[in-house]
Amino acid sequence: MNILIIGNGAREHTLAWKISQSTKTDKLFVAPGNAGTSALAQNLPISAEDVPALTKAAQENKIDLVMVGPEVPLTKGIVDALTEIGIPTFGPQKGAAQIEGSKVFAKELMFKYGIPCARSATFTSFEEALNYVKQQPIPMVIKADGLAAGKGVIIATSQEQAIQALSDIMQKKAFGEAGDKVLVEECLVGREASLLAFTDGKTLSPMVPACDYKRALDGDQGLNTGGMGCYSPSEFFTPELREQVMGTVMKPTIEAMAKEGYPFKGILYAGLMMTADGPKVLEFNARFGDPETQVILPLLKTDIVDIMQAVIDDNLSQINIEWSDDACVGVVLAADEYPESYQKGFPISGLSDVDEDALVFHAGTDSDTNGQVITSGGRVLTVVGKGQDYSSAREKVYQNISRINFEGCRYRTDIAIIKSQS
Ligand code: AMP
Ligand code: GLY
Repeated sequence: MNILIIGNGAREHTLAWKISQSTKTDKLFVAPGNAGTSALAQNLPISAEDVPALTKAAQENKIDLVMVGPEVPLTKGIVDALTEIGIPTFGPQKGAAQIEGSKVFAKELMFKYGIPCARSATFTSFEEALNYVKQQPIPMVIKADGLAAGKGVIIATSQEQAIQALSDIMQKKAFGEAGDKVLVEECLVGREASLLAFTDGKTLSPMVPACDYKRALDGDQGLNTGGMGCYSPSEFFTPELREQVMGTVMKPTIEAMAKEGYPFKGILYAGLMMTADGPKVLEFNARFGDPETQVILPLLKTDIVDIMQAVIDDNLSQINIEWSDDACVGVVLAADEYPESYQKGFPISGLSDVDEDALVFHAGTDSDTNGQVITSGGRVLTVVGKGQDYSSAREKVYQNISRINFEGCRYRTDIAIIKSQS
């Protein structure tokens, strides 16, 4: 089969690595990809958000199966467009992708169907939001309704900060029309984890739960980022807890989506907070997570192309998806000032010095005219190690990281320090 992956992050490099291992894969394409994917696939220089150009390229390259990485093409209807021209595509259609594309949609669904989540109120008027915020205890959470590249959530620890966030989102339009509506939410307290599940709209098959690290600096200090590291499985996500979340969150959500006329196929990703009242949903995503994918897929034993096809063909119940019992740790190497403005174009050294069993997934990388791999983004690489326990996986990652370098390279040193083990 000719397979196309859409996207250019470390998530898509991981998908390319996994899909290239399938005996079903003849030719692999990534649009637009990065220097890492170019070693496994043919990169197509097309933006992941340009639905018409992607559709045309899929036809021209006789693509048999498409995997969509990021959320923007999903909410723009890439699955609908490709399916319409007969190209099987893994992911939810535009209507179902609203579960990620509109936080108000997701919240209304959860309230209507009794899916546990934070209390919240929705506003389209700045004045009304302001009045409400003035009466709420702090901390409180202000969220833009639409997609904001992970920056549309503000945990306000003072009234002034909450009002500033409202003004930025609703008046200054910091995230454009994503801020036409806002949610003001109760702030939940607890440990956070992500549970992702494959689904064909009826059957759900959970993946290994993962924990990611959103803050830029050690000790969860500094700004929020797209993710600085991740580990899997999450040590507190017991099999019992997973069953509970499947029963109270994942299954009811899939059933609710079908009842609302938006059957959901692809990956349902629940960001969860384990509160004193049990697990509650922070957000839903309609795709693989980044950096979760980098630590989840190395544990998948089943052929991912078989899973993609089973989801598309509505027969996920027919396959048995197997996972390794190992621990997997991923650490992101980022540019100096990331997530603020940063420089790029620095040569990356040491990529060929890593151990054979360590994995290096590229995100913001490119090749210069001499074929030298250079930095081209804020998050540059995710280095991943597997082991029988967290400490051996951690050790593998940090040992290998010490061999890689580029100017301004920065990473967290505290990823996957599990309290019971260290
Ligand atoms: P989201 O994009 O909705 O997942 O939000 C990003 C991050 O903000 C989450 O991973 C949480 O760390 C935090 N967050 C979102 N909603 C809440 C909430 N209601 N209470 C506490 N933290 C939250
Ligand atoms: N790790 C968060 C996300 O993929 O949205």
